[in-house]
Amino acid sequence: MQPIIKIEEVGKTYASGFTALKAIDLEIHRGEIFALLGPNGAGKTTLISIICGIVNATSGRITADGVDIVDNYRKARSLIGLVPQELTTDAFESVLNTVSFSRGLFGKPADPAYIEKILRQLSLWDKRNSKMLALSGGMKRRVMIAKALSHEPSILFLDEPTAGVDVELRRDMWEMVRGLRENGVTIILTTHYIEEAEEMADRIGVINRGELVLVEDKHRLMQQLGQKQLHLHLQTPLNEVPAALAPYNLTLSEDGEQLTYHFDTHQETSGIAKLLRALSDLGIDLKDLQSKQSSLEEIFVSLVQGRSEQG
Ligand SMILES: Nc1ncnc2c1ncn2[C@@H]1O[C@H](COP(=O)(O)OP(=O)(O)OP(=O)(O)O)[C@@H](O)[C@H]1O
Ligand SMILES: [Mg+2]
Repeated sequence: MQPIIKIEEVGKTYASGFTALKAIDLEIHRGEIFALLGPNGAGKTTLISIICGIVNATSGRITADGVDIVDNYRKARSLIGLVPQELTTDAFESVLNTVSFSRGLFGKPADPAYIEKILRQLSLWDKRNSKMLALSGGMKRRVMIAKALSHEPSILFLDEPTAGVDVELRRDMWEMVRGLRENGVTIILTTHYIEEAEEMADRIGVINRGELVLVEDKHRLMQQLGQKQLHLHLQTPLNEVPAALAPYNLTLSEDGEQLTYHFDTHQETSGIAKLLRALSDLGIDLKDLQSKQSSLEEIFVSLVQGRSEQG
């Protein structure tokens, strides 16, 4: 199937001479939730702004549903909804007017029933007559989402959608985003909350210093890069790792009370059974044991750190 967004060799050098993006190649699949992760200044907003036609690319080419975003800007833009990172709204306008006006900007005929539906979904219906300046930060962000959805786009960009949003509302937003996906909307989001990517995304892209360092199916990523650890809490502290256990990848805690065994999740056998037998043969008794799989956060930090040390 044709990708819904195709990004080819897209680069951006700002007027200051700073290169924010270096030849990005990326395809977004139809109907997926794609999470773009990266540290501050990595180039996430720049990339989104280019796709949405707010910033011009210095090089490369992008199509949205087969439509070239430069040659056929209006058509491409009408397919896209954008919730920008920076909130900008007309302070004195009411919620309902703001959202209805956005729809009009895209040349769509008025559809009060549709606007009501999205305002209700975003728990904004009760606030429809409030002026923007009278809303809390989280409510303003929800209005931005309503605006982005007002013209019924098939691709939605959410640039840090849940920054400054409380936990409960964040969960509601995740629900809503999933609901949109079920209705066939493709979603690309950036986030600093790794938990958000872990919870929501089908695929994950990691961008660092203007380069896409990784694009992977979320589950595969966690499987491939995931290290597992087995923590063994000892009955009696040890001074050192016994020589007989040298073949195992073990570390001893400073207080000598805990051995940690590291293994890859994609290894055929974990070797745990053998290790436990070896411990028992040495007369080392355990108080407790726990295994732990590295989270997406740990994977992400190690990727980004590894790269910046090289660069
Ligand atoms: N208009 C501009 N002129 C010059 N440099 C810019 C401009 N906009 C962004 N940059 C630079 O480009 C780089 C990428 O910025 P961008 O906003 O895309 O990062 P980001 O990944 O979205 O970061 P954050 O997580 O903080 O939102 C940064 O170094 C930034 O300073
Ligand atoms: Mg940004």
